[in-house]
Amino acid sequence: AGRVGETTAQILAEQEICREVVLIDIREDAPQGVALDILQTSPFFNFDTLVAGSNDPADLADADLVVITAGIPRKPGMSRSDVLDTNVSIIDGIVDNILRFSPNSMILVVSNPVDVLTWRVWQRTGWGRERVFGQAGVLDASRMAAFLAMETGFSSRDITTLVLGGHGDSMVPVPRFCTINGVPISHFISEARIQDIIQRTREGGAEILALRKNSSAYDAPGASVAAMVDAISHNRKRLLPCVAILQGEYGQADIAMGVPCVLNEKGLAEVVELDLNPDEMSSFQRSAAAVSQDINRLRD
Ligand code: 2OP
Repeated sequence: AGRVGETTAQILAEQEICREVVLIDIREDAPQGVALDILQTSPFFNFDTLVAGSNDPADLADADLVVITAGIPRKPGMSRSDVLDTNVSIIDGIVDNILRFSPNSMILVVSNPVDVLTWRVWQRTGWGRERVFGQAGVLDASRMAAFLAMETGFSSRDITTLVLGGHGDSMVPVPRFCTINGVPISHFISEARIQDIIQRTREGGAEILALRKNSSAYDAPGASVAAMVDAISHNRKRLLPCVAILQGEYGQADIAMGVPCVLNEKGLAEVVELDLNPDEMSSFQRSAAAVSQDINRLRD
């Protein structure tokens, strides 16, 4: 029931993406308060989604999908990797509860550093990768789309973007796959401005943290998680960049990072391997090396 969890729950409830949303938090009374607050928006938005808060992990029972947003957030100046050790122990405890109370669910990891923690959850559960995946690229791509809308004045409805790689300083926005309704962005923007937008996208989370000072982003992160849950709960077969366990795709294995994936009712149904050009591929491999470094810290 932190900020990302609350924002996600509000959207899931308001848009009736799920029939039932349960917020679980160790802070006594907090998730119950959040759930009530969300329920009290139902007359405005006309929803009857069931929303509850709980401190008892047993309330994970029968969940179809568990979204993990718990963990300590970054403070200004910290990287996502700086919160790794603390968040690993928090997430391990949550995974053990999921294994006990909702062993047939899927897990969507949001806590940072998300690539590393997705790998950790996959390893600790022993589940197939279709049931354990993470959110990063949907958010990073939405940031890039917003920056392109601000730059060009075009409606963000017409903007398609693609961001691959790890959710960190080495993330890989891919302008070749970014369009304004199918027209490559290079038709409208100079190469120099595209590079500026790529850099701003990479630093998108840090920019908001520096401005807000005592909070990371949560509005766009919550909307990003809700978009992924919607793709799954409505079996939409959407093509979204997700943190996936790679099994040979893009020349990588035993690692989790952002790649285009098919999301449907089965979860992460497929990893889509793009034909990256040499520059894109080398950026991707650099990003993989950065993610591997953190993952290696967790290997036994
Ligand atoms: C973000 O990108 C904190 O990773 C989060 O805003």
